[in-house]
Amino acid sequence: MATRWGLCGAGKISHDFSVAIKTLPPGDHRIAVIASRSIDRAKDFAQKHCIPKAYGSYEELANNPKIDIVYLGMLHTEQWRVGMLFLKAGKNVLCEKPFAMNSRKVKDLVATAKKNHVFLMEAIWSRCFHVYAEVRRLLAEEVVGDVKLVKAYFGSPQLDIPRSVQKELGGGLTEYYRLKESKRMPLADSVLLSEIMAEIRKQVGVVFNQDSQ
Ligand SMILES: NC(=O)c1ccc[n+]([C@@H]2O[C@H](COP(=O)([O-])OP(=O)(O)OC[C@H]3O[C@@H](n4cnc5c(N)ncnc54)[C@H](OP(=O)(O)O)[C@@H]3O)[C@@H](O)[C@H]2O)c1
Repeated sequence: MATRWGLCGAGKISHDFSVAIKTLPPGDHRIAVIASRSIDRAKDFAQKHCIPKAYGSYEELANNPKIDIVYLGMLHTEQWRVGMLFLKAGKNVLCEKPFAMNSRKVKDLVATAKKNHVFLMEAIWSRCFHVYAEVRRLLAEEVVGDVKLVKAYFGSPQLDIPRSVQKELGGGLTEYYRLKESKRMPLADSVLLSEIMAEIRKQVGVVFNQDSQ
């Protein structure tokens, strides 16, 4: 049976995600619901992307028992709050990057996913590029020495991306549900990334409102 996706947020990145999902075999993946804070925006999005159901609140999606996984495509300042809503409702979640505004909130999301035994992944799509796997192989096999500088050129990303996304989602989702996290973007990497960002912010003196909330 096809994996039933619920989309949360009717913005630009959700639009791109819907287009990408349609490149996968329809028997594997189906967008069943779009939820927006505005029912009119949800209906417009549903019509544009042929999605059968539109909700005017995120809570309705959290309460739908027929959804296998939620894609969180909303403003990054809101992802911690809305992510918690879905994780606490026992939903598997693929969340646009970054998970949250600071490391404390990222750890909060990870701990809540683990406590509720649900799948959670930060959607850093470049991790699905073939070139990443190849770079990891070259480093692991010590083909190159100490890396001082990396320059990346993606020759034909538009050709590569649907194939690699297909491999990531089409081939591996059932296994990921079992593991509760992605092998390509593990939760430990998300936490590490948030700690690196925290250190950079500390060094350059950047403070977000969310840090004191
Ligand atoms: N666009 C990209 O290429 C891209 C790439 C990588 C990552 N991202 C990530 O995706 C996030 C969304 O990007 P986007 O380009 O899709 O932005 P967008 O078009 O402005 O959409 C953001 C969506 O967030 C939802 N939202 C929830 N609470 C909100 C609030 N208080 N204020 C404003 N919006 C709120 C809205 O959904 P509803 O009103 O429909 O509920 C809105 O449609 C970014 O913040 C970033 O973290 C985007």
